Amino acid sequence: MPNDGSRWGGGSTGTCSRRRAPWLSAACRRAADIAVRALVPSASPPTVLEIGCGTGSLALEMSPFAGHIHAMDVSSEMIRIASQKKQVQGATNVTFRQGTLDGRAPVEPEHFDSAWAYSILHLVPDRRRTLKTIFDLLKPGGSFISSNVCLGSTWVPYGAIITVLRWFGKAPVVHVYDRETILREMREVGFVEIEEREVGAGGMVALVVTKKPG
Ligand SMILES: C[S@@+](CC[C@H](N)C(=O)[O-])C[C@H]1O[C@@H](n2cnc3c(N)ncnc32)[C@H](O)[C@@H]1O
Repeated sequence: MPNDGSRWGGGSTGTCSRRRAPWLSAACRRAADIAVRALVPSASPPTVLEIGCGTGSLALEMSPFAGHIHAMDVSSEMIRIASQKKQVQGATNVTFRQGTLDGRAPVEPEHFDSAWAYSILHLVPDRRRTLKTIFDLLKPGGSFISSNVCLGSTWVPYGAIITVLRWFGKAPVVHVYDRETILREMREVGFVEIEEREVGAGGMVALVVTKKPG
């Protein structure tokens, strides 16, 4: 089963425009605000990379604040929907394309002022490699904002539940990790000033803002 967001509800913070419980919409809003604030220090209009963009809600909502947003997703269906939404909105500074960071990086290092990964790092095959690729793609001083689904940070045995669901073909590969793990992995690839922000999305979600040393 492809790791597309259709079965997993589009994540917890990125897709703000879908119909959601009020508390979750508020969490979306706060997560989006954090992405915007991370762009402010940039002098020129920032170039942004978003991986696992889903149907493009975050990229389109943030487009007025960015120079250009390059948003990618492994799923052609997600990109098709995102592109339709872009046309409706008339955004000209967002590019949606099907792709991943699982193999060779798509562009030269030090290309982006900011990178966003919302509800995706638990789905990528090699999280450390993805983090390293993001680190390399950022310019010195560039920011990285990620909303992490930390299934290992609750008492619910998600690992076992997902294994059973996978036996019946009802779940994609999902990596279970806790917030300490993801924070440590970010530190290990070289990110600094790693801060967790409260967005009110519950204990399972860690919204992390960090940067590449300048
Ligand atoms: C849970 S959804 C999150 C979508 C969006 N970021 C949000 O917060 O609403 C996960 C998205 O990641 C995409 N995805 C899964 N594995 C991927 C990979 N290895 N590389 C790029 N995108 C991937 C899925 O297709 C899906 O759209």
